[in-house]
Amino acid sequence: MSRYVLPLSVLGTAVGGAVLLKDFVSGGACPSKATIPGKTVIVTGANTGIGKQTALELAKRGGNIILACRDMEKCEAAAKEIRGETLNHRVNARHLDLASLKSIREFAAKVTEEEEHVHILINNAAVMRCPHWTTEDGFEMQLGVNYLGHFLLTNLLLDKLKASAPSRIINVSSLAHVAGHIDFGDLNWEQRKYDTKAAYCQSKLAVVLSTKELSRRLQGTGVTVNALHPGVARTELGRHTGMHSSAFSSFTLGPIFWLLVKSPQLAAQPSVYLAVAEELEGVSGKYFDVLKEKAPAPEAEDEEVAKRLWAESARLVGLEMSHERGQPLPK
Ligand SMILES: NC(=O)c1ccc[n+]([C@@H]2O[C@H](COP(=O)([O-])OP(=O)(O)OC[C@H]3O[C@@H](n4cnc5c(N)ncnc54)[C@H](OP(=O)(O)O)[C@@H]3O)[C@@H](O)[C@H]2O)c1
Repeated sequence: MSRYVLPLSVLGTAVGGAVLLKDFVSGGACPSKATIPGKTVIVTGANTGIGKQTALELAKRGGNIILACRDMEKCEAAAKEIRGETLNHRVNARHLDLASLKSIREFAAKVTEEEEHVHILINNAAVMRCPHWTTEDGFEMQLGVNYLGHFLLTNLLLDKLKASAPSRIINVSSLAHVAGHIDFGDLNWEQRKYDTKAAYCQSKLAVVLSTKELSRRLQGTGVTVNALHPGVARTELGRHTGMHSSAFSSFTLGPIFWLLVKSPQLAAQPSVYLAVAEELEGVSGKYFDVLKEKAPAPEAEDEEVAKRLWAESARLVGLEMSHERGQPLPK
């Protein structure tokens, strides 16, 4: 019997250590218990993954939730599920395809007309490492959906957000931004050989840069904007990478995944935290790694790059800017 004591205690220590490490790697639950009764929240890409869990959690906290998705069947199903689980009936589905500037303009026009307020905008939707696709308007798909689409959406909703202040914009980026570089000579991958990873990283770096620039432009308006990395989560994001479909990779990487990868519910906590936490009132232009504020990659802190990217993005999406203030012109 005694010969089992040592191996069992080693095994116990290893399992305990792995569980502790998993908790450490995952980050915890949102530390704020704040509720948001009557606050209107938009979550893009809310039919699945982190976006759906973010919408669910904010519905539990009493918000009026708008799920903004490209597939209305999935969107209605998610809204119904959230209403059923939370008994919050102010959860609605609206059509938004971030790969179409026309769809973004239609969505923003409807929201502006029909919603009295928008207090929280969560730019969550994304596509990762897809083939070399382009959006309806000819942008490289990852830059178009993850960054340019949200850039236009946010700018079109700014008047409403300002009128609803204090209000918050949350941009879901990724740790992948650290490997990104903004190539102003070929933002849309028209000249270089397409690199699916580099294109994703560029799009997520652009998200952090625009967060910083927008925060500078919003000073004194009562609207804050922050970016975050949610952690690595088990979602549909890897649908174009082949990882999900390979039995070999599932088998070999399974234990590593268990350790490093968290549930969408846990990965939604940073978005929820930035959306509701009272202690973050007035905090703007920051990057959060899960629940902790952290310095982003050096290129993400470069003000010149941020300003140049803002001007180029405004030109690409056809946003008319006032030259004096660099703000969108009123319609
Ligand atoms: N999962 C991770 O480990 C991880 C790590 C770092 C950062 N993130 C970030 O977290 C966010 C959420 O990702 P996730 O993991 O929850 O991924 P997901 O499960 O793939 O969900 C992505 C969502 O974006 C939507 N979407 C894609 N293209 C769209 C378009 N053209 N218009 C509107 N919506 C569109 C998807 O809609 P459909 O279902 O219709 O495709 C889906 O609802 C993303 O910004 C991602 O980059 C995730």
